[in-house]
Amino acid sequence: MKLSVALLGLNAAYNAGIVSAAPLESWSTKSGASLSAVDMFNTAIEWNDKYWDDEAGYLITPSEGSGRYDSRHSAWYAPQLLARNGPGDVAKAIRIFDNVISGQYLDRTKQWYGDYQGAPSQPEPGTLVYPDDGPYSSWDPNIRDFVGCAWIVALNDYAHLLPAATVSKVENSLHIAAKGDLYRVGGVDGDNSYPCYSNPWLMRTILQNWVGARVGDANLTKSGENFAQEIYNLWSMHRTLSEFNSPTYAGVAMWALALWNKYGTSDSLLKKYGPDMLTYSWKELGELYNANLKNVAGPWDRSYGYNMKEYASLIGAVIWGTIGREKAPVPKNLLSMYHQDDFAFYPLFALSMPEMVKYLPAKVKTNLLKFPGEHMYTSQAYSPPFDTYPRNITTWMSDNVTIGAETVSEHVVGGPAINPSQFTPAVIQWAIDDYQIGAISHWVTESSIHAVAAPGSLKISYPNTTSTDGPVSFNFLFSGLNVPNGFNVTGLEGVPGLNVKLTTNALPNYTMTYNTDHSVNEFSFYNITYTMPESFTGVPYLSLHIV
Ligand SMILES: *[C@@H]1O[C@H](CO)[C@@H](O)[C@H](O)[C@H]1NC(C)=O
Ligand SMILES: *[C@@H]1O[C@H](CO)[C@@H](O)[C@H](O)[C@H]1NC(C)=O
Ligand SMILES: *[C@@H]1O[C@H](CO)[C@@H](O)[C@H](O)[C@H]1NC(C)=O
Ligand SMILES: *[C@@H]1O[C@H](CO)[C@@H](O)[C@H](O)[C@H]1NC(C)=O
Ligand SMILES: *[C@@H]1O[C@H](CO)[C@@H](O)[C@H](O)[C@H]1NC(C)=O
Ligand SMILES: *[C@@H]1O[C@H](CO)[C@@H](O)[C@H](O)[C@H]1NC(C)=O
Ligand SMILES: *[C@@H]1O[C@H](CO)[C@@H](O)[C@H](O)[C@H]1NC(C)=O
Repeated sequence: MKLSVALLGLNAAYNAGIVSAAPLESWSTKSGASLSAVDMFNTAIEWNDKYWDDEAGYLITPSEGSGRYDSRHSAWYAPQLLARNGPGDVAKAIRIFDNVISGQYLDRTKQWYGDYQGAPSQPEPGTLVYPDDGPYSSWDPNIRDFVGCAWIVALNDYAHLLPAATVSKVENSLHIAAKGDLYRVGGVDGDNSYPCYSNPWLMRTILQNWVGARVGDANLTKSGENFAQEIYNLWSMHRTLSEFNSPTYAGVAMWALALWNKYGTSDSLLKKYGPDMLTYSWKELGELYNANLKNVAGPWDRSYGYNMKEYASLIGAVIWGTIGREKAPVPKNLLSMYHQDDFAFYPLFALSMPEMVKYLPAKVKTNLLKFPGEHMYTSQAYSPPFDTYPRNITTWMSDNVTIGAETVSEHVVGGPAINPSQFTPAVIQWAIDDYQIGAISHWVTESSIHAVAAPGSLKISYPNTTSTDGPVSFNFLFSGLNVPNGFNVTGLEGVPGLNVKLTTNALPNYTMTYNTDHSVNEFSFYNITYTMPESFTGVPYLSLHIV
């Protein structure tokens, strides 16, 4: 059965006049990819293969999504199939281009012009059945960038496998996507596209640059230059991306920068600035990665979990592609990874690895393999218009405990993404035992937080309390004790594998509840909350010392 399907695929491809007889390893041998990158490519594309529905011509949505099928994942899969170029792969990719493009929004008067559906079943946004409540409601403005960047890879590297009609169809679709992307202006009509929104901003920049050159639209090319300059100006302040150290989005940023370097036009600002920005991304990772814990220490501006060995992160993909799966911060079991959706992206990371590692400093590679020893890392990152001042980042790294924190004062609670589940301005991670990783993360309820890490300590205070919901409090989530071995969690001073001493001017009687509603990144956790006396007027603080 398997054989005949494969032969059919080949026949269809030959009949359409498509070259499809290249060996399975064609991508890897041509690009000089490492064994680690090849292994990641094969493992992750085979995971995607299992979600392919050949009747529908889309990938099935692995967890939550806006429908049964996932258009964005399917779009990612197309260049992966072209790179593999096994029996039937090219024909599948052509079906995907046709299907996903049939769900592109073409009404120029709409804010979502040029965007793609999240799922083929979605009705037209802005209708009574599917109202438009602004970006990220019935449409996601970033899908233009995710699809667009994946298809740059497809057209740039594999157009020779495709019929001319498909090539011009994809080109035309990308041209519309790039024009629609220019409708995005931060602060206008609910849009949040600012240079501080690093990951989509980096993607839109290469989308404008590459499509502009490809179709000869000077306006797009110019926008690409402007976007590159704007993010470089912001980055140059502290040599950090504003969306700082996110185990997921720092990965997207590194991928996008690899695309800048590989696909940007030769005399562009992308080619000029990309190498520095990518090199510094590696350096930051080399400082904040703890190879003993197999985790990136905090603070995390946006995170989908508290232990990279349990969820699919994209920095996990960067590290797997560099030093191999065994030593990488990725789940051992691919079944039921948390945040598993992003695993669909891994093969595209594999394809970018030969470019990405060109900028990898040797010392960083050493640090990824072996923790270099106790050290402090300090830095700053700035996210205008959300931050009232640049955030100060302090991280203490030791053999089996890390403490990461940042000072922040914003107009909103929950970071620029306005999402307390993702925003983790203070977190302690440690080895509970040989394989379990504990995390105490600060759950934000304030927009102004002064969190500072030092060797063995974390101090959090609220210099400007503005909570309007209930009393001022310090909320912490503890997670990671999946197999308790008789240990009873009793509070911050009663967590397994870490001796903590606490000082605070909050009331000593804290509350502790075990939460299983999966409202925070699918995790179950203990919620430990300290509350300030109602009449309190000074600066609330809470300090944790490792003893
Ligand atoms: C050119 O790009 C700008 C944004 O950079 C946009 O406002 C303008 O409408 C575009 N012009 C054309 C003719 O597409
Ligand atoms: C952040 O650090 C800078 C440089 O050390 C310092 O000038 C500034 O006052 C700090 N800001 C906060 C809010 O701590
Ligand atoms: C305190 O917070 C309010 C509301 O976010 C803000 O307007 C004000 O500037 C803040 N003050 C200081 C000293 O940070
Ligand atoms: C953590 O490191 C310390 C000192 O190196 C050691 O005593 C302790 O046993 C380690 N704990 C775990 C859980 O590995
Ligand atoms: C944990 O709690 C249970 C129930 O309250 C108790 O029976 C047990 O002795 C406790 N274990 C430890 C190690 O304190
Ligand atoms: C803690 O104790 C105070 C009185 O000392 C009381 O008002 C408050 O309700 C208690 N809070 C909790 C969470 O038990
Ligand atoms: C933690 O508990 C506090 C006090 O009950 C509550 O206000 C807060 O919303 C809880 N946090 C989470 C993330 O469940």
